Amino acid sequence: MHTSSHNLARLLGDFSAGPGPAHRRLSDLVRLLILDGRLPLDTALPGERDLAAALGISRTTVSTAYATLREQGYLSTRDRARGRTRVPPGKQEDPGVAGPDLIDFSHAASPAPGEALHRAYTRALDRLPRYLPRHGYNPAGLPELREAVARRYTDRGLPTDPAQILVTNGAQHAFSLLVRTTVRPRDRVVTEHPSYPHALGVLRTAGCRITPVALTEDGWNVDGLVEAARGAAMTFLIPDFHNPTGQVMSEVDRSRLRLDGRLVVDETMSELALDTPPPTPISGAVSIGSAAKTFWGGLRIGWLRGDRALVRQLAQARAGTDLGTPVVEQLACAELLGEIDQVLPGRLAELRERRALLLGLVAEHLPDWTVGRPLGGLSVWARLPEPVSSALAAVAPQFGVHLAAGPRFGVGGAFERFVRLPYTLAAEPMTAGIRGIAAALSAVRSGRRADTAPAAPLA
Ligand SMILES: Cc1ncc(COP(=O)(O)O)c(C=O)c1O
Repeated sequence: MHTSSHNLARLLGDFSAGPGPAHRRLSDLVRLLILDGRLPLDTALPGERDLAAALGISRTTVSTAYATLREQGYLSTRDRARGRTRVPPGKQEDPGVAGPDLIDFSHAASPAPGEALHRAYTRALDRLPRYLPRHGYNPAGLPELREAVARRYTDRGLPTDPAQILVTNGAQHAFSLLVRTTVRPRDRVVTEHPSYPHALGVLRTAGCRITPVALTEDGWNVDGLVEAARGAAMTFLIPDFHNPTGQVMSEVDRSRLRLDGRLVVDETMSELALDTPPPTPISGAVSIGSAAKTFWGGLRIGWLRGDRALVRQLAQARAGTDLGTPVVEQLACAELLGEIDQVLPGRLAELRERRALLLGLVAEHLPDWTVGRPLGGLSVWARLPEPVSSALAAVAPQFGVHLAAGPRFGVGGAFERFVRLPYTLAAEPMTAGIRGIAAALSAVRSGRRADTAPAAPLA
């Protein structure tokens, strides 16, 4: 694989932003693109001359930046061949995970409810012997978890039969399985803009043409969605406490979602209603859910609700990549769903506290950022006065923070003026993290000022 100078220039965005010399800004930004997956591994970068021309900078700047990346192990070093992207061994063996010394603002996911999780696993182990005499493969999921998930949909207002539920290894698995099985390369898929980066990644990998429809501060543009969905294979929406903005779709808008093609709603955040009644699941859509946000990401349990034929088709198709979901985790998840009414209130109370803390910290340390107060979910979508999101994410590790740049949530380099801030961290790391982001922002701004200062008049 290779990337053109035009494409890399687009990914780099406003390259003038940031502290330090241009070659360092360039190497910092390319490193960020590699680490957050926007530049896939083993991608050949454009030649120095081409990139310099596309960015309007000198070839020496590009060549110095490439040399730094080679030295740091982010570019392969074969002579004469174009450098290929890589992650140095030992540096970040686990792509997408902040090193232990960084405060992780890049994930919107809460820690586990320790006691409840322990209890659920203990009970799951007690129930395990019943399954041991059988082979343990259940491509559609254990009957008791399918029943527990179906019951939850029914309790939330959407009558559901267990045969309509497919248990998966997380919501991400459910979406990628659905896309791989039912969408062809070049098919058009409509999404909100911004959207969840890993869902966009699935669509890109499948070779779909993505049609983004802007999500505004006022919510969903349903007329725009209807228009965009004409002739599309699929529309993918996150109507409940949308990731990253936290918005929730109104009942009126839900009732107007009559779209061409298949409607897929990601309802992984549905249970995280902080100041509003939990939304009713959308009927007439394929719904994707997960235990990750309600309970814990480490469970790796998700599901899909669809008609029986689709569930059967997907249960069969998953054998191409996996043969089922671990039994103990499914039993533990069924236990957790059984006591959701006891577990959830404490989690929501904690999230409300953390949201208040985050909003206070932003007001104090990042006063010119605009943030709303989401009614639920796990994050705020902060608007910056200037388009420096990637530059900020690139230097943030130097200030102790791992941050997801706004363009990760968009298509075509959009959202350089935005940063997603999760409110899932405890008070101490959250406070230190916001201070770190404020310090990184000052560094970016002083770099920008130095760059844009008028040249001294000739004596
Ligand atoms: C909107 C959305 N969908 C899907 C996922 C992935 O869920 P899972 O961990 O169950 O794969 C996430 C996790 O961040 C998410 O925010």
